[in-house]
Amino acid sequence: MPDVLSIKGLDNGTIMELLQRAGEFERGAKQRLSGVFVNLFFEPSTRTKMSFEMAEHKMGLTVLPFETAFSSTLKGETLYDTVRTLEAIGVDGVIIRHEEEEYYKELEGCKAAIINGGDGSGQHPTQSLLDLYTIHQEFGRFDGIHVTIVGDIAHSRVAKSNAAALEKMGAEVSFVCPKEWSGEYETSEQLDKFIEKTDVVMMLRVQHERHAVAALFSKENYHETYGLTVERERKMKRSAIIMHPAPINRGVEIADELVECKRSRIFKQMANGVFVRMAVLEYAMKGRD
Ligand code: CP
Repeated sequence: MPDVLSIKGLDNGTIMELLQRAGEFERGAKQRLSGVFVNLFFEPSTRTKMSFEMAEHKMGLTVLPFETAFSSTLKGETLYDTVRTLEAIGVDGVIIRHEEEEYYKELEGCKAAIINGGDGSGQHPTQSLLDLYTIHQEFGRFDGIHVTIVGDIAHSRVAKSNAAALEKMGAEVSFVCPKEWSGEYETSEQLDKFIEKTDVVMMLRVQHERHAVAALFSKENYHETYGLTVERERKMKRSAIIMHPAPINRGVEIADELVECKRSRIFKQMANGVFVRMAVLEYAMKGRD
């Protein structure tokens, strides 16, 4: 049964099929699947968890509740034993968000479908797919589209999976961030260098929980230097759009008044997440009785 662990594990043809299927779901296509899923979120989530739940509901799947705070993982049970336990009681698939990068390597040999809902600072494949879907919906192509990813690149699983996804689909990607947050990427500190020519400004959340941001910047200083300010938005191409995976630090990476401006696709991304996750669930259940 196909797992969805990393965007690198999906070839371009599969990605396009998933986007096409998401489009069919958005236009009202119905599909009923038979199966039982459990959503295991060991890190906080609103969008990924709730949109998977909505997608599971729309696809007719049974979803068993799992409270990480009251599970035997607190008694030291491993993730592998937790998933094997769920399989033993008849679960077909799991969505997992976990603080450990590549936690899924521990799960090799499990029979349940495994969908990665985010692994630490590693990957977030379904966020990438919904971002690709949103960009394709806007421009009808990836070739020749320039995307500027701005912010906490080194700590962001969204940046890493989107960089891989966009580049393999033919888009051009630039990165803007403080030099301390470059990670493995060639980055610039000058958002103003890209703002007039880029098609997509993709702002990232500053991940306060993963490192000591306050030691480097005040909120005001970060916003002025790296944020999408109202002045910068005015310089964007007429056709250019604003994206952000959310949650948003309003007034830090993006000005409050831009979050729902005409160019913003931020809430559209969230709506698209349900259709994309429906396509992913269908894909993950392929080949199962
Ligand atoms: N974009 C995203 O992954 O949001 P959540 O952390 O709320 O799931």
